[in-house]
Amino acid sequence: MTSPSSPRILVTGATGFIGRRLLYRLDAMGFWLRCMTRNPEKFSLPFELKNPPEVVAGDLLDPESLKKALDGIDIAYYLVHSMGGKNFREMKEFEKRDRIAAQNFVNAADQSGLSRLIYLGGLGEMSGSLSHHLASRQEVGKILASGKTEATILRAAVIIGAGGAGFEIIRYLVERLPVMLCPKWIYTQSQPIAVENVLDYLAGCLDVPETAGATFDIGGPEVLTYSELMKKYARVRGLRRYIAGVPFFYTLLSTYWVALITPVPPGIVFPLAEGLRSPAVCRENQITGLIPLDLISMEQAICNALAEEQQGPGRLVSRQACFLPEQA
Ligand SMILES: NC(=O)c1ccc[n+]([C@@H]2O[C@H](COP(=O)([O-])OP(=O)(O)OC[C@H]3O[C@@H](n4cnc5c(N)ncnc54)[C@H](OP(=O)(O)O)[C@@H]3O)[C@@H](O)[C@H]2O)c1
Repeated sequence: MTSPSSPRILVTGATGFIGRRLLYRLDAMGFWLRCMTRNPEKFSLPFELKNPPEVVAGDLLDPESLKKALDGIDIAYYLVHSMGGKNFREMKEFEKRDRIAAQNFVNAADQSGLSRLIYLGGLGEMSGSLSHHLASRQEVGKILASGKTEATILRAAVIIGAGGAGFEIIRYLVERLPVMLCPKWIYTQSQPIAVENVLDYLAGCLDVPETAGATFDIGGPEVLTYSELMKKYARVRGLRRYIAGVPFFYTLLSTYWVALITPVPPGIVFPLAEGLRSPAVCRENQITGLIPLDLISMEQAICNALAEEQQGPGRLVSRQACFLPEQA
């Protein structure tokens, strides 16, 4: 049973890769939870939480629905993006949807008296040359921080976990292609992080008051190029792969190429692929002093993702065996 004095938490994006996993973490900590989704009738969890959550219909593009979602809530997690879409026009307008969604949420939060907001956005340099996706993630952070609620903004690069869009792209490419001639972005540096550590930070913020009203970069223990990350995946799986970057691959071409090989739809691949040209490395590591963690290595994170069981909180995407020679 949750204590009556325990903060009441709203998880937006509760059906997503991160949100669904976070539910289990917060439930284990004893919090009362409300899950927001546009389709509550489709909401399901792979196994039960200790305290059944309340499930509420909420669409960030429908301000009226947010009043009910935020009613009586103390803390909210914002784990939503608007990438995707049924047609080319919808795919292109994700930034506009994300801007409206964040502003609607701030307006509703200001009226509801929400005391704390935690947002997981994207890691990328703060320069003017950011991709549409990364610039949009920064813009959402700024909008969420502009209201009366104290906002914590965590910025992450690709998150390694079963079902995550970035990880699935890597997984399918390496599994399916023995020889990969890739766009030059495979030599861009990134600081990927295990999904377990992302959850540690998201949940850990609740215990550390200094995280309120601040922005933090979160990253794993290794800075790697995407080529190195794909090679690590191949090593974990015991696969021999040849990977090289070539100059003639443009974003649109690589989007359709990736969407052909992987199950990730073009509306998600395109904004992600466009962002891969920008380095995604932590500018500062302040969070490591506030929430000290044993950061999971990328080989272990890949192994964990592959080994995730069907009963686990994530969507099952793989039953492949993991192959790490030194740990066998
Ligand atoms: N995955 C990664 O590798 C990664 C890396 C860095 C940062 N992040 C950040 O982590 C956060 C969560 O990403 P994710 O990978 O978990 O995403 P995801 O699996 O694609 O889930 C997206 C969620 O957004 C919800 N949503 C979309 N539009 C909505 C709307 N109009 N109203 C209400 N809910 C809406 C969906 O809920 P319903 O469809 O149920 O309504 C779904 O639960 C995002 O802010 C993302 O930028 C992710």
